[in-house]
Amino acid sequence: MTDTTDKTAQKILRANDRGGYTVPTPGLYPYQWNWDSAFAALGFATFDLNRAWQEVETLFQGQWTDGFLPHIVFRVDEPSYFPGPSIWRTGVTPPTSGITQPPVVATVVRALFEQDNNRDRLEALYPKILAWHRWFATYRDPLNNGLVMTSHPWETGRDNSPEWDVPARGVDSSKVEPYERRDLGHVDSDMRPKKDDYDRYIAILEFGRSVGWNHKTIAEKGPFRVLDVGLSFILLRANRDLLALAEALSRSDDVDFLRDRIELAEYGVSYLWDEAIGAFCSRDLIADKSSGMCTSTSFLALYADVGSVDQRARLFENFKRIATTTRYMLPSTDPHHSAFDSKRYWRGPVWAVVNLMAAIGFYEQGYALEADRIREDTLSLIKKAGFFEAFDPISGEGTGGPDFTWTAAVWLYWSGLGQHFKDDIGEMV
Ligand code: GLC
Repeated sequence: MTDTTDKTAQKILRANDRGGYTVPTPGLYPYQWNWDSAFAALGFATFDLNRAWQEVETLFQGQWTDGFLPHIVFRVDEPSYFPGPSIWRTGVTPPTSGITQPPVVATVVRALFEQDNNRDRLEALYPKILAWHRWFATYRDPLNNGLVMTSHPWETGRDNSPEWDVPARGVDSSKVEPYERRDLGHVDSDMRPKKDDYDRYIAILEFGRSVGWNHKTIAEKGPFRVLDVGLSFILLRANRDLLALAEALSRSDDVDFLRDRIELAEYGVSYLWDEAIGAFCSRDLIADKSSGMCTSTSFLALYADVGSVDQRARLFENFKRIATTTRYMLPSTDPHHSAFDSKRYWRGPVWAVVNLMAAIGFYEQGYALEADRIREDTLSLIKKAGFFEAFDPISGEGTGGPDFTWTAAVWLYWSGLGQHFKDDIGEMV
């Protein structure tokens, strides 16, 4: 029997607290991660709102002067993790990585603000979030169509999704400096990326380092450049939430910028539509080719409120096909694809945070049955296995690290709060 009460979930958040910020899980991920902290804030908001705001505030201590918000903030040097600050060498204080992660922060901050109306805290955070969204517009929109280009698989948050297999093939990893992985000391190697993939991750990192983390050069010449469906949907949604905050603060100067970004992306997403698959798919910019894969993030189309009636119908065919053969939704990779692997990181397992966003989108757009299925499967997985990092969609076993911050946060959100979305969806909590 697993112990999955709200109390245990709260204890996990407290235990992973390192003094104003949380680590995703001790050992395997001993620093502050970008989108992990955003979800952690949603969890804290169910029992300690002050601490929820603080989680986002400490994340922004790692922001660069040009608005860039890194995927990891390293405040201490932890030998249990590779690649740490001495590998990234970004030269900033506090030390950080040189790549970013999915921008869920604006959406979360909107939820916090709607809960406690704390104008002072919002006033302080708002310009920082806007600067980050402007950074995306400046450096990560190469086609000027509102879609987000990723420069490293880790930026997407879906580190080793098979979507990156083909685009990463062009990355030369023959000159990677010798290194020792640390993840395999914490988690079974069957669950973690394979060596060839890891070599490429490090080669891409070394490219960024070799150009002094100049994001313009990385965007133009980086060895890995992919339009990511997840980042694109998440930023579109986040721009809408930031627009609502801009209006709440009467920042009329920013409203036009945000409206433009939203409109661009609403049209731009059609570029990611893959008619053969019936889903929005990531697209390799270098080869100009669709990944041809329906993944869990393809279903974030509803969260981003995009897709024509026909496109949504196709997407739902995919949903039904997967849902009828898979015990636990949403597998990160289509189980009918040859790359599916039920245990290996983003090649199959279910992630509670993707499920949360997907279910929110389904509820908002009136697909309560599908949303309920996603939410119930997520809670069943946690009840069965505990607060794991991810879960095998077939057997329901926990995968990756235990006592995971964002899994505990999603549990708390679904068991207790959901305020931000409650008005729209009624039945969500
Ligand atoms: C893994 C995940 C990433 C997450 C990080 C910390 O790298 O792929 O999405 O942010 O772990 O939990």
